[in-house]
Amino acid sequence: MPASLAEPPPMITLVGLSGSLRKASLNTALLRAAAREMPPGVRFVEATLRDVPLYDGDLEAAEGLPAAVVRLKEQLAGADALLLATPEYNNAMPGVLKNAIDWMSRPAADIPRVFGAKPVALMGASPGNFGTILSQASWLGVLRTLEMRLWSGGRMMLSAAHRAFDAEGNLVNAPDRERLRRFVHGFVDSLGPAGS
Ligand code: FNR
Repeated sequence: MPASLAEPPPMITLVGLSGSLRKASLNTALLRAAAREMPPGVRFVEATLRDVPLYDGDLEAAEGLPAAVVRLKEQLAGADALLLATPEYNNAMPGVLKNAIDWMSRPAADIPRVFGAKPVALMGASPGNFGTILSQASWLGVLRTLEMRLWSGGRMMLSAAHRAFDAEGNLVNAPDRERLRRFVHGFVDSLGPAGS
């Protein structure tokens, strides 16, 4: 039997985006740990900030959107939901992630297609004690401006994250794994069978 008949197609496409470019990023590790906790029926797509230049209105006017931005926009437009793993820099969101979202919000006429009413969940990891709580709060106005639908049925803030993962990127503590599993399942459950 062809594989396409053997398995039903995935019902929900979830795009995950980490706000860090570091190879050893704790937020990318958290995102990938979340991907491993997805329930059946979810297709997880890890997007990347790689190759997104600094926003420059002159560049946009002269050349349009960079290819990396077009790719991000289409990944999000084609997804049922977005999972953001945000670091915290100086008690707010990191510039690299905000920069990518700013690019993705261009042209403004495209915002409803790409972001409008799209469910989004926020999580984050920090070596500090507060697990990105202020960074997550700093995203609220941005998400509201883009008219996204923030899922607030759970919170995932990973403190002391530099001690939370083993060499394979697995969360070492069972309570952390359980918190992440509940967060991911809560978000996915909120999407309904077809992400609606
Ligand atoms: C940080 N870090 C940090 N952590 C935090 O909990 N609150 C903060 O306000 C800040 N501020 C801050 C500013 C800058 C410029 C840097 C580079 C770092 C520490 C940060 O949480 C840590 O570097 C994380 O490891 C970054 O996330 P990734 O790259 O590991 O995903």
